[in-house]
Amino acid sequence: MPDSRVPRPRRFLVCEPRHFAVQYAINPWMQPDSQIDVDLAQDQWQALIRAYRAHGHAVDTVEPVAGLPDMVFAANSAVVVGGRVFGSLFHAAERRPESTHYDTWFKAAGFDVHRPEAVCEGEGDLVPTGRYVLAGTGFRTTREAHREVQEFFGVPVISLTLVDPYFYHLDTALFVLDDGPEGNIVYYPEAFSPGSREVLARLYPDAVLATREDAMTFGLNSVSDGRHVFIAPQAERLASCLADHGYTPVPVDLSEFHKAGGGIKCCTQEIRS
Ligand code: ARG
Repeated sequence: MPDSRVPRPRRFLVCEPRHFAVQYAINPWMQPDSQIDVDLAQDQWQALIRAYRAHGHAVDTVEPVAGLPDMVFAANSAVVVGGRVFGSLFHAAERRPESTHYDTWFKAAGFDVHRPEAVCEGEGDLVPTGRYVLAGTGFRTTREAHREVQEFFGVPVISLTLVDPYFYHLDTALFVLDDGPEGNIVYYPEAFSPGSREVLARLYPDAVLATREDAMTFGLNSVSDGRHVFIAPQAERLASCLADHGYTPVPVDLSEFHKAGGGIKCCTQEIRS
């Protein structure tokens, strides 16, 4: 089985953590007095970019903007499917200005950007699987936005309710292992309402189930190319479980970013053509 997993080259959009800091608290991970080691954050982030490129993925960068310390979390600024860009409208006032800078990048790169009417935070809560868009709500992205996303892409949107403030974005509780038609996911069931858990169990009977420990170590904030899984080294149990399923874990430590409630996936937006 291990050799049957086929990686697909991706195009990623990222933003260098030049102005990264914890200056406000909009999730339980953020302690406003927590110090970020800026050099370490830079090194960790560069290591992620090197790992992507070493595995054949293309990486584009948005210019970071002073005064927007969370702009490094590129995943939150849009969701792109079939070359169509659905932009973001952040829940927190502190993050709202980020959208303009990402929209400018997309327009310069030749994409039209749909400006949403309802609060939604891009790939943080909107996770394309190949067949559906799995959509989180409960803390940030609204159900109104889910409807808007379905109307825009014409892809079935599956609404899932998040219930644990530590897992405030869908991409902290679930990730896609492989986005082919028979694709599979990994998730932490207790992060979801009982009904949403049942929905996931129906849609993905063979999903890999994660533990609270896996989730608390940002193991679910991973990026998979269908074979390689870029994953936090702290999520040891989950990484070895994925290896048993035929995937190749690629550990990348973003511990400085965990202090802001983000990890590998948060730092990575996928541009799907
Ligand atoms: N501090 C950021 C926030 O709370 C972290 C965002 C993490 N991004 C993600 N895709 N989960 O908005």
